[in-house]
Amino acid sequence: MRELKIFAVVVVFTLITYWGVEPYAHHEMHPPKPAPDYTFQDVDGLKGLTGNAEAGATLVQANCIACHSIESAGFPQLMDNASSAAAYGVTPPDLATSGKLYNADYLAAFIKNPAKAAKVQHKFEDGAVHPMPNYDWMQPQEIADMVAYLQSIAPKEMTNKEVFKDACQRCHALKYADMQKGTMAAFTPDANIKAYMGKIPPDLSQYIRSRSESYLHEFINDPQKHLEGTAMPRVGLTQDAENQVVTYMQEIGDSSKDKREALGPKFLIYFVIFAIFAWLWKVKQWRDMH
Ligand code: HEC
Ligand code: HEC
Repeated sequence: MRELKIFAVVVVFTLITYWGVEPYAHHEMHPPKPAPDYTFQDVDGLKGLTGNAEAGATLVQANCIACHSIESAGFPQLMDNASSAAAYGVTPPDLATSGKLYNADYLAAFIKNPAKAAKVQHKFEDGAVHPMPNYDWMQPQEIADMVAYLQSIAPKEMTNKEVFKDACQRCHALKYADMQKGTMAAFTPDANIKAYMGKIPPDLSQYIRSRSESYLHEFINDPQKHLEGTAMPRVGLTQDAENQVVTYMQEIGDSSKDKREALGPKFLIYFVIFAIFAWLWKVKQWRDMH
């Protein structure tokens, strides 16, 4: 009986140390960040307006295709990646999928004021201007029309790789995805992106290993939350699109994760069976002793 009491005291103190002290210290050193906000409450969005896609088509043709291609709608790139990067600092993305990739309120806010929506206004002080002009002089209804048009032409389904290509690859390489052909290099040449961003955005091939999945979600949803003053813009992805990007980074950088995790329960089952046999064996050995 005495042993049992000692045992209980040890168990209680171990649990207090484990659940009380360790998580508490962790909490103090890494205060939790607010969860990602996929509704983008803070932006100057659509404010409930519903757009007219037909009217939006005309507006997008008049305002956007000088810089952006929309290949699937018949508006090709006017310059190759290198020339457009030289002109704008970064190769502007094709807009065919924007209506699916980006939250609609975010998209509206980005069109009105890109630097503000992307939370990179700190980069455009002292006379420097964002390479994409503000369209906040347009009527809110016209902005809603353009968003409706972009949504109407967007594909219903995209592969994980396509999401990465349209949302991230203008700045980031993911070289491990295609070492041989080099097609997963960033679209913007290093010299241009360095001049525009102040540094070369990192190759993302191994980030799923060096950062946790939840960090990646928080960071992509709102980079300033983790790296205050960072040059990386908020990109405004929907939750689905962000999940696809992170899944893609995992497929490329840590393809054996699922296998590894599936192994855990198998080991536990093995240990349970082993423990039962060990116990039966012990009972058998001691039976003759008494
Ligand atoms: C003068 C060139 C120019 C024009 C005109 C222009 N853009 Fe852009 N746009 C850019 C550049 C450059 C970027 C990339 C900026 C960056 O990543 O920092 C961009 C980025 C974007 C993005 C990506 C947003 C994100 O969250 O990553 C969208 C969507 C977009 N533009 C839509 C539009 C629409 C819609 C119009 C027309 C109303 C338009 N753009 C007009 C140059 C332009
Ligand atoms: C307009 C360029 C641009 C776009 C678009 C962009 N990034 Fe970045 N990203 C950067 C820059 C610049 C940095 C370096 C930030 C720093 O060190 O301050 C960075 C850093 C990162 C990091 C490293 C964070 C860390 O903790 O060090 C990750 C992860 C990342 N980006 C993911 C993404 C993903 C995923 C996308 C697409 C959804 C994306 N980025 C789109 C420019 C961009």
